[in-house]
Amino acid sequence: MQILLLPGDGIGPEVVAGAKRVLEAVAAAFGHQFTFREELIGGAALRRGLPPLPESTLAAARAADGILLGAVGDPEFDTGDSSRRPEAALLKIRRELNLYANLRPARVWAGLEDAGPLKPEVLAGTDMLIVRELTGGLYYGEPRGISEDGNSAHNTMRYSRMEIERIARRAFDAARGRLQRVTSVDKANVLETSRLWRQVVIDVARDYPDVRLDHMYVDACAMKIALAPSSFDVILTENLFGDILSDEAGAIVGSLGLLPSASLGDGGALFEPVHGSAPDIAGKNAANPIGAIASAAMLLRHALGLNTEADIVEHAIETVLRAGLRTRDLVTNGAPSVGTGAMAAAIAAAIAQQRGADSEERRAAPSTRSARSGRAATRP
Ligand code: IPM
Ligand code: MG
Repeated sequence: MQILLLPGDGIGPEVVAGAKRVLEAVAAAFGHQFTFREELIGGAALRRGLPPLPESTLAAARAADGILLGAVGDPEFDTGDSSRRPEAALLKIRRELNLYANLRPARVWAGLEDAGPLKPEVLAGTDMLIVRELTGGLYYGEPRGISEDGNSAHNTMRYSRMEIERIARRAFDAARGRLQRVTSVDKANVLETSRLWRQVVIDVARDYPDVRLDHMYVDACAMKIALAPSSFDVILTENLFGDILSDEAGAIVGSLGLLPSASLGDGGALFEPVHGSAPDIAGKNAANPIGAIASAAMLLRHALGLNTEADIVEHAIETVLRAGLRTRDLVTNGAPSVGTGAMAAAIAAAIAQQRGADSEERRAAPSTRSARSGRAATRP
């Protein structure tokens, strides 16, 4: 199984190293052969005089069974034109691999109920999945540009029925493995694209009579995520709205550093933490690797079909958080914290330990399925 690592910029290399360590622990515990290959992307490529998404990286991405990306973004390249920015690599790889479905689960981990800004009783039970359309909307719409005199600029928001329909189906399918509820988020009181969005989602919903659908304007949704996050199951939304709402979801569950994502299409699959390159803490062993490690769990599940292995990684994250291990983003007022490497090492160790305990259990009672894998099977 070929896994392509794209560490990228800022804290990307540190968190990807942590996730790789965890994947190695999975391979050792289950006897899998993972082959890792590493390529350049973003500012890391620009620095070597290459385009932000070099051809060799794209070719390796097409050949890989799963791709794990760290982050792209580097202040040094913030002034270039849009095609020479690190972020262009991300937009291009999503588009080239047709990764139109971005799954961003945000839930409160046991033990972190009071790590975020919300009261623990408001946060309790929060477990939402944001299904973000990823290859359309304002990010890609043409025409776009800045006028010659530099005094005006424009972007285009455009959606076709086909684009809305396929992402809506992803959301409804995901809801079937969860609480069977989809909230479609738009701005249909103002935007034509949103009115089409709403109509197509209603059409798709007819094929899912078991799933309850409601609609919400994006501004109201942003408010409700802060006021009553546990009221959501699946949030279905377009590209830019999903970008914004997923950062908010990260903040309320304790830290953006915790959030993983999967970008899926009809073939390839790319996994990346939702956070950015965080240049201010890069190279300081201060980043939270959990977003990247949970992304590796999603890679195991969605790209490699290794569900038990994915469950074990998530269980290991839970174990170390319950034990009180915290990276810097999860503590306040200088409370004790551990570095990126130590957090990843602890999660890798918990995997080895859990796997040992599981085989003991299997030897004792061969037909007993653990309760844990039953519950986790419903996760995205
Ligand atoms: C994300 C990021 C990217 C996006 C940037 C880096 C282009 O914010 O994945 O959420 O806007 O999609
Ligand atoms: Mg974002």
